[in-house]
Amino acid sequence: MRVLGIETSCDETGIAIYASDGGLLAHHLYSQVALHAEYGGVVPELAARDHLNRAVPLIQQTLTAAQLNWSDINGVAYTAGPGLIGALLVGAALGRSLAWAAGIPAIGVHHLEGHLLAAHLESPAPAFPFVALLVSGGHTQLIAVHDLGKYQLLGESLDDAAGEAFDKTAKVLGLPYPGGALLAQLATRGDPNRYRFPRPMTDRPGLDFSFSGLKTHTLTAWREEQLTRTDNEQMRADIARAFEEAVVETLIIKCRRALAQTGLTRLVLAGGVSANQRLRERMQLAIAAVGGETFYPRAEFCTDNGAMIAYAGWLRLCAGQLEPLSFQVHPRWAL
Ligand code: KG4
Ligand code: ZN
Repeated sequence: MRVLGIETSCDETGIAIYASDGGLLAHHLYSQVALHAEYGGVVPELAARDHLNRAVPLIQQTLTAAQLNWSDINGVAYTAGPGLIGALLVGAALGRSLAWAAGIPAIGVHHLEGHLLAAHLESPAPAFPFVALLVSGGHTQLIAVHDLGKYQLLGESLDDAAGEAFDKTAKVLGLPYPGGALLAQLATRGDPNRYRFPRPMTDRPGLDFSFSGLKTHTLTAWREEQLTRTDNEQMRADIARAFEEAVVETLIIKCRRALAQTGLTRLVLAGGVSANQRLRERMQLAIAAVGGETFYPRAEFCTDNGAMIAYAGWLRLCAGQLEPLSFQVHPRWAL
């Protein structure tokens, strides 16, 4: 079984081929970041139109890289939600049409399931069951993953997602959209002992998160410090560092709590924020200290990509899951 994966839920066109024989054969990504940067965020209509332009050439490129022809593909997986409706419709319509023309099955994949399973693209892959920390631009969730398709929500953000907080804080510090990764770069030059920001919702039981107050705290600190400090560049780095430390430590506290509560020992990091180097390093140490093991995919499979969709679709098609020719997308879709 060789599955072509198509990811178009937001602003990245991701295409990949995953096969029973050989695993991930090829993957390509086209990022629309430059297209949306001047608007300070993703413009849904532009995103959909750009997916339309990019997806077919990218499929051709991916087939060539895998040294395959279209006739070698036995199934198609596309992201069916959650995401931007226009962007989702491009991937879904394309995936369905290609599969129909070739007489092969197609399947709609849940974008968050793709993220949850992305660590399985690496070796060693985490065995089920595990706790997943899903930290992306739109979601911050702790999930007990018992098996493929058996997901139990343990806790989630009550307001901003961690990635959203990174991006909004980056904007406060004058970094361009999407600023999460740039803020992390800036933080490497910051003094970790200069400021201590709050660790929201860690002083009460439970596994929910809240990041909007931390974002406001950062804005206030930024405004107040500008009145007294003249070393603007270092101040930005110190604030970025304090913000990152606060998010990382909050996530660590909740992940340890989730492992203790479920009795599970494996933790999987997923979603764009799990590309954060400090989070990866500090989480690994903190989880090892309580006898657990941390897994995460390479950074390019933390953020949106086609490989995770091809893999999730491959698993489901191998399990014999079939869908009718008509298709639906789900801009909002609970796991
Ligand atoms: O999973 P993803 O690519 O898209 C969604 O499904 O939302 O996540 C994107 C998010 C953005 O908020 C981005 O700023 C954040 O992941 N991100 C990071 C880093 N790289 C990407 N946040 C912190 N540190 C990073 N290195
Ligand atoms: Zn995503």
